[in-house]
Amino acid sequence: MPTIPSNVRGARFTGWGVALGEKIVTNDDLALTMETSDEWIRERTGIHRRHIGGSTAAMSIESGSAALAMAGIDPASIDALVLATTTPDRAVPATSATVQNALGLRCGAFDVNAACSGFVYGLINAHGLIALGAERVLVIGTDSLSRVTDWTDRNTAILFADGSGAAVLESTSGHGQLLGWDLDADGSAEEILFAEIGGFIRMDGKEVFRRAVRIMVDSAQKSMKAAGITADQLSVVVPHQANIRIITSACDKLGVPMEKVSVVVHETGNTSSASIPLALFGDFGQVRPKEGDLVLLVGFGAGMTAASAVLQWGAQ
Ligand code: COA
Repeated sequence: MPTIPSNVRGARFTGWGVALGEKIVTNDDLALTMETSDEWIRERTGIHRRHIGGSTAAMSIESGSAALAMAGIDPASIDALVLATTTPDRAVPATSATVQNALGLRCGAFDVNAACSGFVYGLINAHGLIALGAERVLVIGTDSLSRVTDWTDRNTAILFADGSGAAVLESTSGHGQLLGWDLDADGSAEEILFAEIGGFIRMDGKEVFRRAVRIMVDSAQKSMKAAGITADQLSVVVPHQANIRIITSACDKLGVPMEKVSVVVHETGNTSSASIPLALFGDFGQVRPKEGDLVLLVGFGAGMTAASAVLQWGAQ
């Protein structure tokens, strides 16, 4: 478990933005075309509606330009673009190239595919680039899962949706916001959640559920240990928004009360790489961090990846 060297060059968020798919699809809408119900979906997943439609590039451009505007910086001053996505628009080039050009960036750009852990993977990479001398990095998490969802499969179609969240990370003179982090993966579990190239997502929902709780708790505990904090010191927890029952079970095991947990899954469904930034930066009445708060981000996804980070909100 790596710990952050005390003299590392720190960074913090200075701007952020979000975007959602164009069309709202309710549970009742789904019940028109498959054997399911609003009541079943709410009870088993916590999802009420989801937003679908829009390419990965288009949503990334929308959230990314909002983040640049909030930070008040010239796009040409960004030193790198990290785009977390598991649904690139093309096999080649990386979707980050399209986004880099559209936003007027003049820097390196690359995609990161770590499924639903993608935004935290991208964020840790961005902090690493700043430690190596970059001044400003744009981190975006976007997925258009509706394109890889089989809309006749009630096992998966009730869960997945589209969205994007972006943040500008800028270097600081102090230690910065990142206090501890953990990245993990277990490729031996590949077959429980996958999509072939050009195919749809296939999932063993029960097995994903069982592992998800365990790996989220494990990753969160590693990050907290690396940060030298305990769960009772956290003010806000931002978990991957897959299923409210996974969130409550993991937070219960971590000893974090639900009043501290940011939940947007009822509104967004599972948006994979966009899920954590939507829950952190969105405007859905969720728990929001204040200056100085300790914040835990924790995700899990296909692969089976897990990623977490302990941040001190607003830290210089
Ligand atoms: N609507 C109505 N009934 C449904 C249904 C649906 N959409 N999907 C399944 N059912 C039925 C099943 O056929 C089963 O019926 P039976 O008891 O007559 O056999 C019953 O509901 C229970 O199904 P089960 O699969 O045991 O439900 P579950 O409580 O495990 O919930 C998931 C299913 C998919 C919601 C849940 O397993 C889950 O969220 N897993 C994690 C998935 C995930 O997060 N993936 C992304 C990770 S990044």
